[in-house]
Amino acid sequence: MKLKLSLIALTGFLSLSCSSNSPDDLQGEVPENISYEADIKPIIQSNCLGCHAEPPVNGAPMPLTDYDKVKQAIQSRGLIDRISRAQGTEGMMPSGGTRLPENIIATIIKWRDQDFQP
Ligand code: HEC
Repeated sequence: MKLKLSLIALTGFLSLSCSSNSPDDLQGEVPENISYEADIKPIIQSNCLGCHAEPPVNGAPMPLTDYDKVKQAIQSRGLIDRISRAQGTEGMMPSGGTRLPENIIATIIKWRDQDFQP
């Protein structure tokens, strides 16, 4: 009886710690409603502006410094294709860096699908 109880307690503890603290779970989050200001801007800032600044550096062809520029790059410069390419593939963005986590890519795609909320 005692053993059974402690097994139950242990199982409960394990599933609790998995659901609340796992970094995989946190990494997997995609917000319900995506906006440029709250979600997209910080992603671009920390991953793209090292090159896509105003003016662009390191050979980047255009800045990604505001709403219109990022939206335009999705609509006519293949931004989503570039961030979706496999690690190490030619043309993958961020160029020469590490592919963005899946949930970040999904967040950018969802922003487009929700019609680019500011
Ligand atoms: C280390 C510098 C660097 C970083 C960081 C970087 N880029 Fe680039 N990007 C480039 C260069 C250089 C090119 C031009 C060569 C090419 O097209 O692959 C480019 C091209 C692009 C293009 C194609 C533009 C066109 O008109 O063909 C897109 C879209 C793009 N980058 C998006 C991004 C996004 C989004 C990020 C952040 C997730 C990012 N880049 C991060 C250097 C960078």
